Amino acid sequence: MTEKKITTTYIECRIEELPSPIQALINAAKESVKNSYAPYSHFNVGAALQLNDGTVLTGNNQENASYPCGTCAERNVLNYARANYPRQAVTDLAIIAAEKGHYTKNPLPPCGLCRQALLETEQVQKQTLRLYLCGAEKVWVIPSAASLLPLQFDAEALHAE
Ligand code: THU
Repeated sequence: MTEKKITTTYIECRIEELPSPIQALINAAKESVKNSYAPYSHFNVGAALQLNDGTVLTGNNQENASYPCGTCAERNVLNYARANYPRQAVTDLAIIAAEKGHYTKNPLPPCGLCRQALLETEQVQKQTLRLYLCGAEKVWVIPSAASLLPLQFDAEALHAE
């Protein structure tokens, strides 16, 4: 019997401590919160990603009276990027949530489905995708999508003998 350990390293900082292009990316995510459609959860999420060529794309959560139809902000913008910019790698992605018009105090951790989607993108593009999980007061900088999903189920696991 062997005990194994998985550790994740990330940075906690204030928005002002980040490089200005990343601050702009976070501001784009904040702006996108305004177009979130979340009449059921009242949890408004905005996401912004940056492509290799510097293009910034945004998305937000879109809910539905049939609850499972709703989609998270991250997957909306990620799928848009993959559908329209298939040859561009996603280098950075920022997310932030607001409740009752106020950004949440703590950074927003992506849901399990979004982690899986982010991992697929990272593996397909063979380039690290940095995540900026934002709250009103602090940001968690996650070095890669893989680091958020240990013991991952991926293409390699699917084809494993
Ligand atoms: N949501 C996101 O958009 N991103 C996340 O990372 C977590 C959750 C959305 C889904 C749903 O519309 C609402 O937030 C509450 O779960």
